[in-house]
Amino acid sequence: MLFTSVLRALPAALLLGGAQASPIAQADGEIRSSPVDSFVKTQTEISIAGVLANTGPDGSKAQGAAAGIVVASPSRSDPDYWFTWTRDAALTYKALIERFINGDTSLRQKIDEYVTAQAYLQGVSNPSGEPDTGGLGEPKFKVDRTAFTGSWGRPQRDGPPLRATALTIYANWLVANGGSTQAADTVWPVIAKDLAYTVRYWNQTGFDLWEEINSSSFFTLSASHRALVEGAALATKLGKTCDGCAAAAPQVLCFLQTFWTGSHIDSNINVNDGRTGKDVNSIISSIHTFDPTAKCTDATFQPCSSRALANHKAVTDSFRSVYAINRGIPQGQAVAVGRYSEDVYYNGNPWYLATLAAAEQLYSAAYQWNRQESIRIDAVSLSFFKDILPGAAVGTYAKDSATYTSIVNAVRTYADGYIAIVQKYTPSNGGLAEQFDKATGTPLSAVDLTWSYAAFLTAAERRDGVVTLSWDEAANNVPPQTCTGTPACSSKVTFNVRATTSVGQDVFVVGQLTQLGNWSPASGQALSASKYTSSDPLWTADIDLPAATVFEYKYIKKNQDGTVVWESDPNRRFTTTSGCGSTAVVNDTWR
Ligand SMILES: *[C@@H]1O[C@H](CO)[C@@H](O)[C@H](O)[C@H]1NC(C)=O
Ligand SMILES: *[C@@H]1O[C@H](CO)[C@@H](O)[C@H](O)[C@H]1NC(C)=O
Ligand SMILES: *[C@@H]1O[C@H](CO)[C@@H](O)[C@H](O)[C@H]1NC(C)=O
Repeated sequence: MLFTSVLRALPAALLLGGAQASPIAQADGEIRSSPVDSFVKTQTEISIAGVLANTGPDGSKAQGAAAGIVVASPSRSDPDYWFTWTRDAALTYKALIERFINGDTSLRQKIDEYVTAQAYLQGVSNPSGEPDTGGLGEPKFKVDRTAFTGSWGRPQRDGPPLRATALTIYANWLVANGGSTQAADTVWPVIAKDLAYTVRYWNQTGFDLWEEINSSSFFTLSASHRALVEGAALATKLGKTCDGCAAAAPQVLCFLQTFWTGSHIDSNINVNDGRTGKDVNSIISSIHTFDPTAKCTDATFQPCSSRALANHKAVTDSFRSVYAINRGIPQGQAVAVGRYSEDVYYNGNPWYLATLAAAEQLYSAAYQWNRQESIRIDAVSLSFFKDILPGAAVGTYAKDSATYTSIVNAVRTYADGYIAIVQKYTPSNGGLAEQFDKATGTPLSAVDLTWSYAAFLTAAERRDGVVTLSWDEAANNVPPQTCTGTPACSSKVTFNVRATTSVGQDVFVVGQLTQLGNWSPASGQALSASKYTSSDPLWTADIDLPAATVFEYKYIKKNQDGTVVWESDPNRRFTTTSGCGSTAVVNDTWR
């Protein structure tokens, strides 16, 4: 490994002698020592236990959760997180699958239970749709695997690609270890549905990972790009097809470029959210699209890329002044990190998983430099490096140079600083909540947040130089010249309504879609009375609507003087068919 620090020159006895020092053998057998070593060691054990306690059917804090179901947190009120989120579960299982591949064979059964549970959940109809009409975008389910029908920020389009990635890592391991049949017959069908969802919906807005704004989210799209790339490759390996995956992936990458502002990533676009866009969303994206074999590619925002490092500085700096516990910490030293500086949830505080992500990006970057045997500093990344090494200058530094060594040491020390912040605000039992108070550092919001534990596990692995498999970033990191998005896919609906009208009255359909005027009577679609008779008062219209879309609508009668008569409640609801160019008929009677 790369941590050829000054410490290496010291006798081993000195290294072992420090009060906290518990040296960790690096991938290349080197030993280095840091004040957070022993914390990392004990907290890793606590974190794996924390994840398993929150997983059904036998987790001690997940009593009642079905097999393979990860609860977000055992907290059942203030806040109620007693649900399973597709996103959190996928990120958690990604960590478990990596750990399994790394030798923890005890996790095999849990992973197989996850596959079964997710295959089941994909078939559960829910407020986001049916299994084939957008239902995979449902953010969360009850722990007994039934739908949650309350109002929520839906759909969330990151769940399917994140789950596809976790399962693709597993499927690739199976193929390499005599389990091709299981990969093809059991795991692939789940992945295939998630990829079909991603192909169809990536170019539509959805709620971000914080479930707050309906936008194009950087996190969702970077997860989509990776999933489509590795999914297409897995399909080929298994002799399957992944319709549209290979075509969509470069387009997603093309779109991702537009999130770069020139100085940081704007985490949510196609929305007027009144925010700077500096959001740990982007750092979490970078750690989950990390490819150990990648160069420091800007286009895919690899952890060591100039863009991702400049973004790391922009995002972490945005929290320096907003949290009292960060006050007095000089530039270039780690601070507590939250979601985004405008956050008001629980009054807006640092989160463990956000602070850990800031560390993980830097460990991953260090891994990439070591593998490439050099570091390049350019105008975009210079200010990041200057913070932690004031003498840093634009240039390329080879691994055998003193400058390379001092840069890597500074980055590692800086990363360990984020771990030290987490250590400082972790209670003595090691329980990781969701947040810690911005003024006092006291744990806040949901206790034992599964994602906090999973975030600790992956940060600790990267710190130790333990990495996941390549997703072939190298062959998939050049965006096309022109971004075309997804061609619109529409489905024709014939609206038939029997509505008795008087002379001069016309019938319109209005509803939740742009094509239906977004409920505005002035922009509704007119129906025709060409088939109207006194015995069959039929008004009709053929209207092209987005395919596979759930929407609500009503008919209205418009009088000549412009006044409008609405149908009585409730709203009508319909789902368009899924094939491009497909048709459907609705027969309604005015009410
Ligand atoms: C769809 O893709 C196009 C081309 O990249 C982009 O301009 C547009 O903003 C995207 N829209 C959504 C909602 O993703
Ligand atoms: C979010 O945007 C999508 C369109 O991409 C839409 O289908 C959905 O209904 C929106 N959700 C809400 C709650 O507005
Ligand atoms: C709708 O009504 C028409 C006759 O007006 C009929 O031919 C058709 O089968 C009906 N379709 C459905 C889906 O009820």
